[in-house]
Amino acid sequence: MSSIELQPTKKRLNGELRVPGDKSISHRSVIFSSLAHGTSYISNFLTGEDCLRTVEAFRLMGVEIEQKEDQLIVHGNGITHLKEPVHPINFGNSGTTARLMSGVLAGLPLFTTAFGDESLSKRPMDRVVVPLKEMGAEITGRNNHSLLPLAFKGRKLKGIRHELKVKSAQVKSALILAGLLGEGETEVVELGETRNHTEMLLPEFGVQLKVNGRSIKIEGGQELQASNIKVPGDISSAAFFIVAASITQGSDLLIRDVGLNSTRDGIVRAMKQMGADIETKVHTHVGSEPVGDVRIRGRMLKGITLKGDIIPNLIDEIPILALAATQAEGETVIKDAKELRFKETDRIEAVVQTLQSLGADVEGLEDGIIIKGKTQLKGGIIDSYGDHRIGMMGAIASLISQEPVTIQDKDCINISYPSFFEHLNETLS
Ligand code: S3P
Repeated sequence: MSSIELQPTKKRLNGELRVPGDKSISHRSVIFSSLAHGTSYISNFLTGEDCLRTVEAFRLMGVEIEQKEDQLIVHGNGITHLKEPVHPINFGNSGTTARLMSGVLAGLPLFTTAFGDESLSKRPMDRVVVPLKEMGAEITGRNNHSLLPLAFKGRKLKGIRHELKVKSAQVKSALILAGLLGEGETEVVELGETRNHTEMLLPEFGVQLKVNGRSIKIEGGQELQASNIKVPGDISSAAFFIVAASITQGSDLLIRDVGLNSTRDGIVRAMKQMGADIETKVHTHVGSEPVGDVRIRGRMLKGITLKGDIIPNLIDEIPILALAATQAEGETVIKDAKELRFKETDRIEAVVQTLQSLGADVEGLEDGIIIKGKTQLKGGIIDSYGDHRIGMMGAIASLISQEPVTIQDKDCINISYPSFFEHLNETLS
């Protein structure tokens, strides 16, 4: 297992940075262009392991996908040309591949099987399997069809109206995709607002949807047409640098070309509420996705309460927000975040264990975390739990620790941010 020892530094973050492409948008770009007719060009594609799993899934179904660094050229031939894969599809560690592809595989007239790594094999798939079965899907799997491996005897599904039981963009997107490949109208009603990249990006491929508040309606049988997508920088990756610059006095960092979709910018809103000095400026749009620059200067933070509707808008950023809270004056309470227990690892457990071992005053709740600040972190040896976001949180903690921080199994960071350590070194001064 690869580990890295990071020396405590009194350094600051300065200069400019461009973070890699958005993970959610990269997955969706490959899926939509592989289902489309014609050649799509995707630039600033995230070449992290998760998104490459989605690429591989479509290559196994006969789609020609060329990759030159972070540029993808996808030669789509429409859904009727997709081939039955000879081998099982490996979803690796990627929950997004697993959930979104379940919607696709259930709705194509092919037999497919799929599996994942140890972490993904523990994550709930019934949240997509149950509603897909309501649409007529034939899916079998381990533990009463709730866990990978899964087998799909795909077929044209029928449109339904489904009210989501969880606040999950992955489940919403799986049902939209199954509806698109199926017959009649599918209506998905959200339990609360979640990231809306599927709804924003499908029209770029010529697909019409009707979005009305929490209801999304899609008519089955629409053909997708090739498109060109420039993927914005991932705000979830930028989050590690936003927090790093905020908690190191004297920092002044500019992160360019970050996706600032309002269903994803909860980290900026939360940090500003904590008193952080952050300016955002939208300068362009990719399709309907706003893209802009984020400037962060180090400043003293204060504790806040985070709960309710904002939680899905910053769900992936809670580990790094919890680290920020250890440096804030007063108490930070995070609630309504039980979904964290179903991520790459149980992130409530992982955050609490990791921050406690570094010397923070942290307590886990069933659905959240309480952090009491401000504490001087000691440093120490931490386990990434094979979870990229826990590994990166540990690396940022080293900037403010007294002793070195050693991160075990650091390679999992490649899942979403292969150039993370390079970028950290480049911005430290
Ligand atoms: C994602 C949705 C979220 C998020 C994940 C990516 C997506 O998961 O945590 O990293 O691309 O749709 P849930 O839908 O399970 O909340």
